[in-house]
Amino acid sequence: MAYLIGLDIGTSGTKTVLFDERGGVIASKTVEYPLYCDRPQWAEQQPEDWRDACIAGLRAVMHESGVNKEDVAGIGLSGQMHGLVMLDKAGEVLRRSIIWCDQRTGAECAEITRRIGAERLIEITANPALTGFTASKILWVQKHEPEIWEKCAHVLLPKDYIRYCLTGEFAAEVSDASGMQLLDVPARTWSREVLDKLEIDPALLAPVYESTLVTGRITAKIAAETRLAEGTPVVGGAGDQAAGAVGNGIVCPGAVSSTIGSSGVVFAYTDEVQIDPRGRVHTFCHAVPGAWHVMGVTQGAGISLKWFRDNFCGAEKEAAALAGMDPYVLMDKQAARAEPGCGGVVYLPYLMGERTPHLDPDARGVFFGMTAATTRADMLRAVMEGVVFSLNDCLSIIRGMGIPTREIRASGGGGRSPLWRQMQADIFGKPIHTISSPEGPALGVALLAGVGTGVYASVPEACEASIRKVGCEKPNAAAKAAYKPYYALYKNLYKSLRKDFGTVSSLTK
Ligand code: XUL
Repeated sequence: MAYLIGLDIGTSGTKTVLFDERGGVIASKTVEYPLYCDRPQWAEQQPEDWRDACIAGLRAVMHESGVNKEDVAGIGLSGQMHGLVMLDKAGEVLRRSIIWCDQRTGAECAEITRRIGAERLIEITANPALTGFTASKILWVQKHEPEIWEKCAHVLLPKDYIRYCLTGEFAAEVSDASGMQLLDVPARTWSREVLDKLEIDPALLAPVYESTLVTGRITAKIAAETRLAEGTPVVGGAGDQAAGAVGNGIVCPGAVSSTIGSSGVVFAYTDEVQIDPRGRVHTFCHAVPGAWHVMGVTQGAGISLKWFRDNFCGAEKEAAALAGMDPYVLMDKQAARAEPGCGGVVYLPYLMGERTPHLDPDARGVFFGMTAATTRADMLRAVMEGVVFSLNDCLSIIRGMGIPTREIRASGGGGRSPLWRQMQADIFGKPIHTISSPEGPALGVALLAGVGTGVYASVPEACEASIRKVGCEKPNAAAKAAYKPYYALYKNLYKSLRKDFGTVSSLTK
């Protein structure tokens, strides 16, 4: 039996999972780390925290499983996308990583559009300039921290920094690189034109590979620290969304996933490059060689519920700790006490600005429609509904582009909540399927490692061998009708508040 390891370097923590070749979980370890939000719109993490979490995770799964190290066929890396990691000549981290949800780079996005031209930028990178993407973060450092930029010898994404730590190799991979705004997405290679116009030396970037290719091997030092065999292959892997899609079997036309993690994402497979001319959804290379995907992103999905939990659900947290339970399970019960529409309370989940459909870094979170009768359960449920309304915005654009959306699969931490899945079925008006493995990105990159090391012949074959459908929430006609006017209200609220978001953002810069 061959074993495969998937690492998912997430925003709240890194998950390391050891799988057998049928996708069964043999051992799993999650290690958390802090997120630094020192100013409004800022979000940073310390790359060495990711590295320590990965090494601890690898050590734990090897120890716990007792699997023979020679039987680990390969390792795949997945991670939060877009984050800027800068290393000096000696391979040392130069500053904290400015991560995906950081929104400080509005001025730099305008500058990118000016230098390259809005149309040409979309032609090459398949997306308009976005604050979340890496290129604008590079321009921000060039402008605000020139002394750091001067020392920069390597620009990497989070999982590619981990690859360097584990294998000593510098390598990038197409699905994640698509989110840097430096890749020619149709050609699946770095864009010389974009790099020249942004004054970024191509030598700062690592060679870019397809996701299933072996890009390095575990060093002797890491082998000694983790109990892995020296020389264990590490494949390209994928950005967390493409990785999660593989782990959910989104590898053929018509397959769609709806993921509620820190961010919320509706992800659809495409055989060809398909671009929304208004740039409201992203078009990226898929981790399936030669394929692409389109995805809409809600910035503050799981982040919204976690924010509500940490600020208003002390009772659930305490009760859950005593009972050895997950506080989200108790919060689900609370939210189920409120009715669809939450007695008129609508929540806009724009805690970290918003991407799809508004592309507005200044958008802010809002509770609207409260009265003296509003309860905490109403507000909790409104957070969950607001996130699904935002995902519905993503799905509507993808449908409008003519991309087939035959089957939707729920995924991510939020996909574990039966209430949140039912809301998706009711608001999307489509059945929501659940699959056998909740491991999403970690499973996805373990499967990519299996393809790269010959355990499976192709990505679809790997998914076939390891993923089964196990459940389905069907839309409820009454709930669907009840949500409809609230979704319309939700959409209207952004229009009404757009100017005021700009004002509050300039007041708190
Ligand atoms: C995708 C995105 C998020 C992050 C964090 O574009 O920004 O999925 O990768 O999960």
